[in-house]
Amino acid sequence: MKIKKIQGLNFRNYFSLNLDIEKDINVFFGKNAQGKTNILESIFYGALGLSYRTSQEENLITFNNNQMMVYIEFTNNQDNHNVRIKKYFDNQRMVKEINLDGKKISLKDYYGFLNVVIFSPEDLQFVKGEPALRRRFLDMQISQTNKKYLETLTQYNKVLKQRNSLLKQIREKETQENVLDTWDEKYIQLATEIYLLRQPAIKKLQEIANKIYQNISSGETLQINYILKDIREKIIDNVENYSQFLAEKISAYRNIDIIRGVTSIGPHHDDLLLAVNEKLLKDFGSQGQQRTVALALKLSQLEYIRQEINEYPILLLDDVMSELDESRRSQLLQFIDKKVQTFITVNDKELIPDLQDTAYYRIENGTINKI
Ligand SMILES: Nc1ncnc2c1ncn2[C@@H]1O[C@H](COP(=O)(O)OP(=O)(O)OP(=O)(O)O)[C@@H](O)[C@H]1O
Ligand SMILES: [Mg+2]
Repeated sequence: MKIKKIQGLNFRNYFSLNLDIEKDINVFFGKNAQGKTNILESIFYGALGLSYRTSQEENLITFNNNQMMVYIEFTNNQDNHNVRIKKYFDNQRMVKEINLDGKKISLKDYYGFLNVVIFSPEDLQFVKGEPALRRRFLDMQISQTNKKYLETLTQYNKVLKQRNSLLKQIREKETQENVLDTWDEKYIQLATEIYLLRQPAIKKLQEIANKIYQNISSGETLQINYILKDIREKIIDNVENYSQFLAEKISAYRNIDIIRGVTSIGPHHDDLLLAVNEKLLKDFGSQGQQRTVALALKLSQLEYIRQEINEYPILLLDDVMSELDESRRSQLLQFIDKKVQTFITVNDKELIPDLQDTAYYRIENGTINKI
């Protein structure tokens, strides 16, 4: 996948953004708060129709404006495409409109045309950070190459939300408890589908990540285990019959769920547990090991997507270069060399050596100067 052109109107601090991309490695450098990350965010937005920095999309619109647009020309397996995503107010309501090759398309149908993987400083917390970080990693990875997963996950989140609001209504005696029965059935069915779709993806990720990690770390092995957690965050070993297991738990936890007003068990609680040489990283890993694992996992995500769709996705590296030491930086650059189109933000451009196919852009207060 290659991006050829990026345009934007009223996106963050860019009234107008216009970039012709000719190189594989594109470095945006400059001082803080000038608009480097905003460019990566616009690419991410053009690819996935959402921001990785905010769930409040109106924040993406330049202050004191009421609409914005991102336009990207790209290739996907040699085919040329263009996408235009507009966000504007229509009778006080925010509307998002996506056009692919000039035709209106739903976000769901557009998903997967332009794949991106983002690596930001937050990801360096991958091992020790919140479980939500690891679930998001997993969900993004599988959704980008598997529409069924995306659809099931969307449905699952809706049913979960509905179930949680029912639990609260039952607690407040506004609804009868037996209304839950049909929702529980639907919930268990969707949760099981998610669980079953995650298993082969984890297995594949584990194989890829272990190879990459062995390479970077000269020989250490990396294990990734999918774990189920219940309400007390106790780890439960993988189960034979997930649907039956979940049904039992859901019924056992029903009263607690009603008191808490949330669902205590399901894929939205599950997690990834990482180990190096069979030793749990979160308990025994050094800082360096944790960073290396975070890097290896991102590279694995690139490789995973390539194996699924026969092409590398676009890589966005937001500010991570300065967080990695010299040897990991060069491992990273070696990996992407001539294979993966990459967009990098960095304060100091010297951190990215002038490889053959590199373009440098100086970013100053929402203006871009190619040097
Ligand atoms: N909706 C918006 N309208 C106008 N300007 C915005 C909007 N949202 C953010 N900004 C501005 O964008 C700038 C931050 O841009 P960005 O996050 O891309 O910085 P950066 O160059 O990556 O900096 P750093 O090196 O600190 O990461 C800030 O000056 C902020 O005020
Ligand atoms: Mg930034």
